[in-house]
Amino acid sequence: MSQSPDTRRLYLDYAATCPMRLEVWRAMEAELEFSFNPASAHTLGRQAHRQLEIARGRVADLLSCDRASVYFTGGGTQSDNLAILGFSRAHDGQKPRVFVSQIEHKACTEAGARAESEGASLGIIPVDETGTIDLARLERELARDPDRPTLVSVMWANNEIGTVQPIDDVVALAHTHGAVVHTDAVQALGKVPVDLTRTPVDLLSATAHKLGGPVGIGILVCRPAVRLEPLSYGGGQERSMWPGTQNPVGATGFAAALDFAVTHQESEAERWRALRDHLESRVLADVPGARIHGRGAPSRLPHLVSVGIPACDSAAVLVSLDFEGIAVSGGSACGSDSGIGSSVVDALGGDIEAPYATVRFSFGHDTSRDDVDRAAEALARIAKRVLALAV
Ligand SMILES: Cc1ncc(COP(=O)(O)O)c(C=O)c1O
Repeated sequence: MSQSPDTRRLYLDYAATCPMRLEVWRAMEAELEFSFNPASAHTLGRQAHRQLEIARGRVADLLSCDRASVYFTGGGTQSDNLAILGFSRAHDGQKPRVFVSQIEHKACTEAGARAESEGASLGIIPVDETGTIDLARLERELARDPDRPTLVSVMWANNEIGTVQPIDDVVALAHTHGAVVHTDAVQALGKVPVDLTRTPVDLLSATAHKLGGPVGIGILVCRPAVRLEPLSYGGGQERSMWPGTQNPVGATGFAAALDFAVTHQESEAERWRALRDHLESRVLADVPGARIHGRGAPSRLPHLVSVGIPACDSAAVLVSLDFEGIAVSGGSACGSDSGIGSSVVDALGGDIEAPYATVRFSFGHDTSRDDVDRAAEALARIAKRVLALAV
């Protein structure tokens, strides 16, 4: 007799968004009385302004940077765009160069492409089979034309396969060649230690909703020596870098979420790592032909597992998992020429042919070993069914 699947909801898509944490919700609720315009001169406006500045100071302390370097934006995409396009436009007429890694988020690759269309030169730095950037290639490129204003944009950690980049080495290399470094730390914060005194990047993007904070608020950390041209113009808020009425309640949510994520980072990472390793060994044992993307990289995110299944249709696997109540993501739906479905998996090279299913599992504070076992069992069962249908 066939067993009916367990359809209880199981959320394993924290890298897409982390549902708002109760602590963050409460912190924001307490600040709702400050929902006034921080630019207003009256008492209520000044209170809202104070709230915003308290949040800014808290964020700066948690990242170990100067509070004047923290700019609130509308999220990760906007911070990435501001860093890359803002840099290239600020150096318009000086032949700026922008280097991005081959596996950046589209918020960076598309901003790089836009900068190129406006006259900057764009260089794409390849990665190896684990998704780790080719530092020797970066060094050769940087040495080539040393006098041009140069931005190197390398994500701290990849959103699809979890590879953590050797960001300290990228900074050291780029600074030796006089280049400015931007890092998209959207997926790294709260998962690996991020301390800007130890890792002196010039620009850093982050977003609240990956940390258990609200959607629609992010930060760009920008060191004072870096020249950026704003992308929009208005009333001069955020020292003209991100003009428009500011969002003190959102900023409070960002700070509360970051505080929680950073405070629990070490203990959560240890717990997640055990879950990740358990899931990976079950998948490798039970799913025919499965591979784990990024495995073997010197450093990986502790809470993310990206599985590749050859000869299997991605949509069929994802829909079947969803039907059983398990929410996960595939690779990025965008930008692959090979039909594999993920330009990041494509960039890893190897003998991969379409169809090829990519399934990303990512854990959060409430993910348990039972959840991981349930996901592993479901994936093995579904993959076998989809493979059998394909024959
Ligand atoms: C690495 C990375 N950068 C940027 C973004 C975009 O952030 P936001 O959703 O806040 O625009 C994401 C979100 O998926 C991401 O994973």
